[in-house]
Amino acid sequence: MRCEGVGANSFALCSLLFCRKGCVGHMGKIAADLLVRGAGQLVTVAGHTGRPKRGPELAEIGIINDGAVAARDGIIVAVGPGPQVEERVELGDSSVVVDTGGKVVLPGLVDPHTHVVFAGSREYELEMKIAGLNYLEILARGGGILDTVRATRAAGFDELVAAGHKYLDQMLAQGTTTAEVKSGYGLTTRDEIKMLAAARELNSRHPVDLVPTFLGAHAIPPEYKDRPEDFVRLVIEEMLPAVAAEGLARFCDVFCEAGVFSVEQSRRILVEAGRLGLQSKLHADEIVSLGGAELAAELGAASADHLMAVSPAGIGRLAESDTVGVILPATTFCLMGGRYAPAREMIEKGVAVALASDFNPGSSPVNSMPIVMGIACRQLKMMPAEVVAAVTINAAHAIGRAGAVGSLEVGKKADLVVFNATDYRYLMYRFGTNLASVVVKSGKVVVGG
Ligand code: NIG
Ligand code: FE
Repeated sequence: MRCEGVGANSFALCSLLFCRKGCVGHMGKIAADLLVRGAGQLVTVAGHTGRPKRGPELAEIGIINDGAVAARDGIIVAVGPGPQVEERVELGDSSVVVDTGGKVVLPGLVDPHTHVVFAGSREYELEMKIAGLNYLEILARGGGILDTVRATRAAGFDELVAAGHKYLDQMLAQGTTTAEVKSGYGLTTRDEIKMLAAARELNSRHPVDLVPTFLGAHAIPPEYKDRPEDFVRLVIEEMLPAVAAEGLARFCDVFCEAGVFSVEQSRRILVEAGRLGLQSKLHADEIVSLGGAELAAELGAASADHLMAVSPAGIGRLAESDTVGVILPATTFCLMGGRYAPAREMIEKGVAVALASDFNPGSSPVNSMPIVMGIACRQLKMMPAEVVAAVTINAAHAIGRAGAVGSLEVGKKADLVVFNATDYRYLMYRFGTNLASVVVKSGKVVVGG
């Protein structure tokens, strides 16, 4: 008899009592300081750490009935059917046991596109949008992003951190354990650095893991209104080197849109960012079909985001690439009148699709991933299982974190959420009510319990 597993990380896959390969999981009890047991549905989303899910793979989310997860020092050491896990692990006096009582357990949700650091709010835009003004008209009148730029420039570092902390608390309470965060409301070197430094501070203070992105090219600030090329040069020659020198960002993003940054300007910025070690992301084909998806694929970007106006050619280029297509349906909902990204076509053509909140004070004041999930089912016509993959492992791929989060597998962070439901589909069905009852981040119970 041979072990069916693939090594030390595989004990949950192996049903043999004695392993002749001697892999760690089979040699004796594994010490654990956390046991989450009694999951009616343990949704692991396992098996796609190396590459994101595409096509029919999206619906394969690895459900284990009566499942359990054990962790030590914040890392998963065992996952599988409850009786097997409990037989294998050894708990100490101070170990924490979470008995879920038959509920649904998902990997911690990953939100791969947010603007969670900002000052102020823009509730007045609601009336403008109801009256029929569109997003680019509001921006052209000096509102929209530029209004938040004024507020963020005026805000002190501590104020930004305090606001970000409040929003992250709300996100964590609804199951988000990892999130991307962009700059882009400073638009001077000093204020962009201030935003990214606030994100770094939040990362050290708050349980939600933050992955920072430099978005200096988010809008043309008023002082460069008549000389946008000079602003592009400022981004390339001053902001990017300063951000890279401080190690403040992992990614660089550009709002590639009609009247904002052209495909050619976006390419120049992202090529320079790549030279400095920042991987590309792109706000692509959100309102006008400019060819942003094609550019993202050409540059090997980690993700192309929005894609409401993506062309068939753009879908084809994304499908051939490793670039994740990040869809933001709460933004389309809040913009009122925009068409939704063609999610079904993207999935059928083989694009690796993820979902994000795009949380920001204008186009998406929504920081709840379960609400995004509910909208995705109804408006993008994504199946609940596809949605789960899109907010876990594929979202982790979109921000370069699939090696650490996005699925419940041995060796990954013990980030998970217990939802008040016995079937994972209930989450999307009942969107709008917060069903997260326990959130575990890096092996620690940080909400409920
Ligand atoms: O992703 N589209 C550009 N940027 C943000 C909106 C930011 C804002 O409205 O403040 C977005 O939707
Ligand atoms: Fe955005």
